[in-house]
Amino acid sequence: MATYLVTGAAGCIGSWITQTLAERGGTVRALDNFSTGKRENLAGIRGEMTVIEADLRDAAALLHACEGVECIFHQGALPSVPLAIQDPRTRHTANIDGTFNLLEAARATGVRRVVYAASSSAYGNKNPLPQTETMLPGPLSPYAVQKYAGELYLRSYWEVYKLETVALRYFNIFGPRQAPDSPYSGVMAKFTRMMLNGEQPVIHGDGTQSRDFTYIENVVQANLLAASAPADKVAGRVFNIACGEPHTLNETYALLAEMLGYKNPPQYGPPRAGDIPHSYADIRAAREDLGYAPTVDFTEGLRRTVGWYRQQHAQRAAQPVGAKA
Ligand code: UD1
Repeated sequence: MATYLVTGAAGCIGSWITQTLAERGGTVRALDNFSTGKRENLAGIRGEMTVIEADLRDAAALLHACEGVECIFHQGALPSVPLAIQDPRTRHTANIDGTFNLLEAARATGVRRVVYAASSSAYGNKNPLPQTETMLPGPLSPYAVQKYAGELYLRSYWEVYKLETVALRYFNIFGPRQAPDSPYSGVMAKFTRMMLNGEQPVIHGDGTQSRDFTYIENVVQANLLAASAPADKVAGRVFNIACGEPHTLNETYALLAEMLGYKNPPQYGPPRAGDIPHSYADIRAAREDLGYAPTVDFTEGLRRTVGWYRQQHAQRAAQPVGAKA
């Protein structure tokens, strides 16, 4: 079986990819600097997995990690639109320099393919909806620019060096293991945790903004397909990975509240800087050329996610005082 490298392996998406590869008999190098990733996300994974603690800004460590690797799943990044607005430099070095370092290491060591976690934020507020890969991108926030720059580098490395690259534009991924505890956590994780704790979530703006929320299992499927699809169909390309159906924040709040038995109506605050109104994917290219088909829809994904956070919440509540993080 092949050897794989997963960057950002201790994050939500990276850990699910790592787990799936290991369960299928692959040899996996799970690389993370553990700045936001959690060791517990890798703890239960069985199979051939080696953890590498390294930073994407460390070119020498990446060179070492890439030796003998067949395919890289590059999930490592510092996410969050608002945090990238507050501190663009740190995020620039992790997201742009980090991707560049990895591509250089892949090229030097003869890696066959790199699958990259790109972002729907590349579209900015481009219309018409749904957004297609043939539209001219319009990244607005520094985060969007950083993730889009990675795509451009991938395309160049395919054109110039024939390193097979596939960029997957993720649309607001959610699911178990997503960190819920920062003010900048993804909205689904954050609202679920707050409702479970009896706290009041705040919707930025009027809640009519919409997102093409995508459950984690669909993303794992897309990554595996992107790793194995024929190069003549996918190399150097970009694919939207989503469910292809937008949901407003008001609708999302209502559904979460119903699932959790949370009674308070939403509270509204000022709109968030750099926020975009609507995000809605055309997923035909992924369907046709990757063979991608979402298997878990929005409501089922929410149900599973809520179930997981509920379980975590109950476990924490059962811990003795002092043991809680
Ligand atoms: C963006 C990207 C996404 C990327 C993510 C990384 C877009 C369309 N998507 O997601 O691809 O993976 O950054 O961080 O740009 N919200 C509230 N209250 C809160 C928190 C959030 O109302 O307490 C709102 C936000 O204003 C936003 C929506 O919820 O309208 C989603 O926010 P968030 O989960 O942070 O993701 P995006 O910024 O949409």
